[in-house]
Amino acid sequence: MAVPDRVLTNQELAQMVDTDDEWIVSRTGIRERHIAQSHETTASLATAAAIQAIEPTDIDPHEVDLIIVATSSPEHIFPSSASLVQDMMGAVNAGAFDLSAACTGFIYAVNMAAQAICTGSIDNAVVIGSETMSRLTNWEDRSTCILFGDGAGAFVLQAREKPGGVLSSILRSDGSGGDLLSLPAGGSKIPTTHETVDAKLHTIRMNGREVFRFATRVMASATKEVVAEAGLEVEDIDLVIPHQANQRIIETAARGLKLPADKFYMNLSKYGNTSTASIPIAFYEAFEDNRIHDGDNLVFVGFGAGLTWGALAVSWHKTERVITTAKRRRRRFVSFLARIRSSLRRLRRKIEGIIFGTTSSSERDSHPKDH
Ligand code: ACO
Repeated sequence: MAVPDRVLTNQELAQMVDTDDEWIVSRTGIRERHIAQSHETTASLATAAAIQAIEPTDIDPHEVDLIIVATSSPEHIFPSSASLVQDMMGAVNAGAFDLSAACTGFIYAVNMAAQAICTGSIDNAVVIGSETMSRLTNWEDRSTCILFGDGAGAFVLQAREKPGGVLSSILRSDGSGGDLLSLPAGGSKIPTTHETVDAKLHTIRMNGREVFRFATRVMASATKEVVAEAGLEVEDIDLVIPHQANQRIIETAARGLKLPADKFYMNLSKYGNTSTASIPIAFYEAFEDNRIHDGDNLVFVGFGAGLTWGALAVSWHKTERVITTAKRRRRRFVSFLARIRSSLRRLRRKIEGIIFGTTSSSERDSHPKDH
């Protein structure tokens, strides 16, 4: 996982909008969140998480076949954030694409990668949830700006002979609720104009009460469905890693499933809602907290704009690998080389453009310094 260093506390938010720590904690469970600084982007956080995720595995970046970045805050409409990650991590043989299913995106992405592995079309995939939600937040709207945070989490999925991994998955959508949670402008329907910027149509709009009702309903039903599809009972679940949107939503889901609340891992007090990154970040911290053991049955469950929701039942098996310090060093060196190679390629294209006259005036005038 990777989160920005800058922490924004509820107390600081109370200086910005009409709210207070007590209200935010009692209604959401959130105490603080991490906020990207100007040099941090969705792709840079995603790359940091991906490089960290690959470190304990037995593969090098060039052996990654597929990179999926689930995100609601991509760097651009195109190119995809995943292609930028592919370049920065030196995954020279990987296909890469972004997946948009709002906060449910990580569940969709793991499902896609796992299916691609199961069919035999690929062996290794890096699945990342990465967000800079702070860039889409209206910092004058107290009903939304208290909720979101920035960060990234990544999984490496690999083909194995052993049973386990993703046992079952359900992916759902109800587009009739699209207006309940949206970022209205900047797409093809409402292109960017001075008016859309003035009206703050490039920031998150949400009907909190409706989203809350929807979320409590689907978190429990999706968990029940995915567990049944895996041939398990709800009691067989060792730990649920839910989307970290609101403590009350998670507690209501736990009651609906008649499971004790401590079967639901929560770390949203420290990060807020990091959208697609929330599940991998929570998983990582649950693992570090020693809450995940060999042979455990886990459920990942989430919901988000779309409306979308989904769940995965996963059988967690530890794989023992000996990764030498030399190999770790070599991987870091490969990532370093990837950055140099990328800069050299850009330079070569620029020189060729000048020689062959293919560099357009718009390209000359643009400032691609953000990558
Ligand atoms: N501080 C103080 N008061 C506030 C704040 C705030 N930050 N925000 C709203 N209020 C006020 C409202 O104005 C309202 O006042 P009124 O009664 O005088 O009108 C009152 O508090 C109650 O407002 P509600 O909206 O009913 O508060 P609620 O208990 O529903 O909590 C919340 C709001 C936290 C947003 C909740 O509805 C929620 O969590 N909804 C789900 C949101 C969510 O999870 N979204 C992410 C989805 S994932 C994705 O795809 C990005």
